[in-house]
Amino acid sequence: MKVSFLGAGAIGSMFAALLRKHAPELDVLVVVRGAHGEAVAERGEIEIVGPWGEERVPIAWSYDPQDVVGSDIVFVTVKSQATKPALEQAGEALGDALVVSIQNGINDHQYDGFVPVDRLVMGMTTTNMAVLAPGRVSMQLDGCTLFGPAIGSSSTAGAQQVVDLLRRIDVPGLDFDAQTNILGVRYNKLIINALGYASCLSASNFITEALCYRPWREGVGLLIVQECKRVLAAAGIEIEKIPGRSDLSRIENLMLALKMPILGKMVQMAIKGKFERSPIVFSLYQDLQRGKPTEVEHINGQIVRLASSVGTQAPVNAEIVAMTHELEERPGDTFFSRQDVIDRITKLTAT
Ligand SMILES: NC(=O)c1ccc[n+]([C@@H]2O[C@H](COP(=O)([O-])OP(=O)(O)OC[C@H]3O[C@@H](n4cnc5c(N)ncnc54)[C@H](OP(=O)(O)O)[C@@H]3O)[C@@H](O)[C@H]2O)c1
Repeated sequence: MKVSFLGAGAIGSMFAALLRKHAPELDVLVVVRGAHGEAVAERGEIEIVGPWGEERVPIAWSYDPQDVVGSDIVFVTVKSQATKPALEQAGEALGDALVVSIQNGINDHQYDGFVPVDRLVMGMTTTNMAVLAPGRVSMQLDGCTLFGPAIGSSSTAGAQQVVDLLRRIDVPGLDFDAQTNILGVRYNKLIINALGYASCLSASNFITEALCYRPWREGVGLLIVQECKRVLAAAGIEIEKIPGRSDLSRIENLMLALKMPILGKMVQMAIKGKFERSPIVFSLYQDLQRGKPTEVEHINGQIVRLASSVGTQAPVNAEIVAMTHELEERPGDTFFSRQDVIDRITKLTAT
């Protein structure tokens, strides 16, 4: 069986290497590029770091997306904005493969014309992987990865096939499951990212400097969550719970607890140390630091587009998108102050 990863950066390289290690009989190919790709090509292996320690996993690699030809399953693990170009480059080489997106954002329509909806599986992962150095990928956080039908399909048969494959990865804490309402799961994660992205505009620690700081929480955070939920309700999309720690309701409960006079102080003290030591790092922050295009149009921008499609507006998310684009235009590593972000969002609600 041939399994390919189209655009193997952090997520693709880690899942590919783990699959190769735990199911060595599979023919696993990574399609790579850039400095990370060169390191993988030069060594013919991916170095993976996680609770298992450090391991070098020999892997087949290619710079050419058309080398996915003959695959039974093709995982697409490029950033959302790179989906269409990657699919165009792979072209007919996708053949009859089951194509599986493990990406943030709601980008199903980008697969139109490349993959029939019954062969498209959409995934959402709560894990966190990072390319520490070219050729070296780390699992920063374990968690679940869920799969389900793309918009326009209701069958979970493809998702189940993917789950059966990935369950060969035997790493405690890495779980794989099928989910009928994968769209609701993906929007759950999207709202958390929409919130986290706002904290990146001022390079603030998401937990200790954003959520724990009342003016940010009330003047930015709560407004984003409320707006996202209002737009989803207007669009008739039901948010689905995510098993484990990365669920929107947990963040909402945290925000509620932080509001309480005594409990809030206790919660703040309990979580401060942990998240100061290991901050949650959103890809938007890293992309801005590295001067790379961000996924904001697929996260906060998705809420803006969804709002417009159902005849309403999402001004708070629109402002986050606009501010991100402003930062993208600036030289790397310059951010707004936290107060700038609060002022710009508060101004919207004052008018
Ligand atoms: N990393 C995580 O922990 C995590 C967690 C949850 C969800 N996600 C989502 O998963 C998706 C992938 O994230 P990631 O962190 O793995 O991103 P990433 O590290 O940037 O990996 C994507 C890789 O695809 C390459 N690429 C882009 N277009 C290509 C093409 N046409 N042909 C071949 N390679 C191509 C990129 O190269 P260039 O850098 O040269 O463009 C990069 O190496 C994103 O949607 C992200 O939001 C990530």
